[in-house]
Amino acid sequence: MKLLVCVGSSCYLKGSYDVIQKLQELLKKYEVEDQVDLNASFCLGFCASGVTLKSDEVFLHHVNPENVEDVFLKEVYPLLNK
Ligand code: FES
Repeated sequence: MKLLVCVGSSCYLKGSYDVIQKLQELLKKYEVEDQVDLNASFCLGFCASGVTLKSDEVFLHHVNPENVEDVFLKEVYPLLNK
């Protein structure tokens, strides 16, 4: 699965680099590093919606370093072939 994290200026200011770091830790913690292609992205077009992620065709909004584990477990992890 491809997982993009917006690092456009609005998302950057809201902590997208910390979100990427946390996601890297989570991929290791849940042993799914080989199943997720994590990348930074230019603006995904939802600047007013907090840090935005895109997994395949699904957009995830209002992600931050504090809630990223919840978002990962609810929205990303169930889609993986563990
Ligand atoms: S800067 Fe992230 S959606 Fe625009």
